[in-house]
Formats: sequence, structure tokens, C-alpha cells
Amino acid sequence: MLDILKNRRSQYALGAELPLPQDEVDHLIREAIRLAPSSFNSQSSRAVILFNGESRRFWDLVKDALRAIVPAEDFPRTERRLAGFAAGAGTVLFFEDQAVVADLQRKFPLYAENFPIWSEHSTAMAQLATWTALSDAGIGASLQHYNPLVDDEAARAWELPATWRLCAQMPFGSNEGEIGQKSYIDDQQRFHTFG
Ligand SMILES: Cc1cc2nc3c(=O)[nH]c(=O)nc-3n(C[C@H](O)[C@H](O)[C@H](O)COP(=O)(O)O)c2cc1C
Repeated sequence: MLDILKNRRSQYALGAELPLPQDEVDHLIREAIRLAPSSFNSQSSRAVILFNGESRRFWDLVKDALRAIVPAEDFPRTERRLAGFAAGAGTVLFFEDQAVVADLQRKFPLYAENFPIWSEHSTAMAQLATWTALSDAGIGASLQHYNPLVDDEAARAWELPATWRLCAQMPFGSNEGEIGQKSYIDDQQRFHTFG
């Protein structure tokens, strides 16, 4: 298990080939999200899984939105970065359904302030589960945050419910580059064990 966690890294050099058939990758992503824990087992996480042209369509939406706000001289760099994501096989869009959060707040007023926070935790759990499952299947991925910039365009493009709030985007594909070593801060700064 620790090796599986250790091997999950941010892969930015993506290609369009997948080591598994597309429907198996789709199943893997769905299962990772379905099996991830959520507060009160509320299962507030939602996902849109985009392959091929649909994934490129998403990154085009991001490009159009960024073109409007990034200074022209910086835009080529932005464009190259987005082209790297679009070069992959697909993208997972992670959402949290705010209707589920509001329902929990109504049902359990004592915890009303916590449910939005726990929903954020739940999406993070779903994201890590997905990222790790993809990595374990030999598929590279990274985690991106172009929300809320593209929320409306994405909702329109894929006709998504208004209550789904976009939380993160995970472009994935074949591993096309070596990933550098990761450094870790001292355990002493992070951990205390008692007893
Ligand atoms: C909550 C969170 C937000 C992140 N947001 C981004 C992001 O917007 N863009 C990006 O390229 N990487 C993002 N990352 C990836 C981190 O930069 C990366 O996980 C970290 O540097 C460790 O590298 P590793 O993923 O290779 O272990 C995010 C990671 C986390 C956990």
C-alpha cells in the first residue's frame, strides 16, 4: 500500500495512449470515487469523465477563459501548459453537489457549519483515490484548479445540474516523462507519537 501511495506523483508529460481500454479506465475512476469515504456517507462527490475530444474541448474552454485575463506576453506559456493537459487521454472533473450539502444542513442543524468543510474533505478523498488508482494502473495524472473560471462554461457544455460545484480537474494519460525526486520536510516538524 505504501508503495502505491509513493508512486502516485504529479505527471505533466501526458500522452493519449492508455494501458487499459477506455471503458476500464472509466470504470476505475467511477469505482475510486464510489468507494471513497464521505461525511455521513453523504456521497456528495460527482464526476464528469471526459475522454479524447471531450477532454480537449474542456481545455479549449479553459484556454478561452484564460486568454481573456492573462497578459498577452504571458499567454504562450499558459497555452503550452494547457496543451500539455490536452495532450492526455482524458480529464476527470470533480464536483461536489451543493444540494446534498444543503440537505444535510437542514437535517442536522447542529453540524450546519461543518458540512461545507466536510464536503471539501470528501472531494479531496475522491481525488486522491482516483489519482492513486490511475497511477496504480500505470496512468499519469495531475491535479488542476481552473475553477471557478470555467464553471459556467463547463456546466453549459455538458448540461450539468446547477447544484454541482466544480472543485478540481485531473488530466490523465500515458506517462511520457520522468518525474523528479520529491523532497520531504523533517518528520520532527510533522509528527508526534505518544503512548
Ligand atoms: C489540494 C491540492 C491542490 C493542488 N493544486 C494544484 C494545481 O492547481 N496545479 C498543479 O499543477 N498541481 C496542483 N497540486 C499538486 C501539487 O503541487 C503536488 O501534489 C505536490 O507538489 C507534490 O507533488 P506530487 O504530486 O508529485 O507528489 C495540488 C495538490 C493538492 C493536494
